[in-house]
Amino acid sequence: MADLDDIRDGDNFGLNSPPDTSKYYLKGINSTDWGIKNRMARIFNRNSGRTVMLAFDHGFLMGPTSGLERIDLNIAPLAEYADCLMGCRGSIRANIPPENTKPICLRTDTGTTILTEMNHNVLLAEEEAIRLNPAAMAAMISVGDAATEATTIANFSRLVDIGNKYSIPVMGVTAVGKDMARDSRYFSLAARVCAENGASIVKTYYTEGFENVVACTPVPVVIAGGKKLPEIEALELAYNAIQCGAAGVDMGRNVFQSEAPLAMIQAVAGVVHDNLKPAEALEIFEEGKNKS
Ligand code: R5P
Repeated sequence: MADLDDIRDGDNFGLNSPPDTSKYYLKGINSTDWGIKNRMARIFNRNSGRTVMLAFDHGFLMGPTSGLERIDLNIAPLAEYADCLMGCRGSIRANIPPENTKPICLRTDTGTTILTEMNHNVLLAEEEAIRLNPAAMAAMISVGDAATEATTIANFSRLVDIGNKYSIPVMGVTAVGKDMARDSRYFSLAARVCAENGASIVKTYYTEGFENVVACTPVPVVIAGGKKLPEIEALELAYNAIQCGAAGVDMGRNVFQSEAPLAMIQAVAGVVHDNLKPAEALEIFEEGKNKS
């Protein structure tokens, strides 16, 4: 049992000492198997070392949320500009053409909808996951939620066992419970729990002090976009995360709920891969919006 009466928060994140990426271009991945490295190289651009993942897994808990009413119409046309498509088996099979060559990050846990409290998520069967030919698999952990923390971390750990069996990287998705503080202390804890349990990618949220979250997570960290923001704010969010060392985004609503999703994903890619400033990326958005 951990001692709870003298928890000393880390305060030495070595921010001036970047991790060694001389043997493999993504941090923390060098000692993994060839298959994991190869799949990571499909997801993360070799030049920037970053990725624009397009998340459209929301329907499994939110139903047909705005912008995802018709994934065949809303998401499939954006695929060209994403580095990776993150979704659930049902919508991938039904809406993403099998000729698609973009890597798939398959959401593998389920069991919760927005209509209830978070309940006891389960994983889909490993042979079913393999059939979708994923470049990565994702599952959520809910750190700090007394009812579901153990189940979700056990699921996650089992998913990493499956991933390692077939050399498929696993992305840890850090959920935030209603009562959780959305600060760097919490996200550092949640992200680190994913990494310690074998994640090859961690998805979390941007917050003040994000450089510490990235520094204490020994594998690439990507950010979710969260609720829809004005485009310039979403680009600033991505920019700030990249400045803090994020390896990209796994963004959903701020792309597919934008008034011009195609232009928005290209603007986000400009920030992620080309180090554009938010105002420069906004120009890409405005130009694309006017053409559409
Ligand atoms: C959350 O569990 C889902 O995995 C979403 O994919 C994630 O939150 C990213 O989507 P958004 O940018 O809309 O937050």
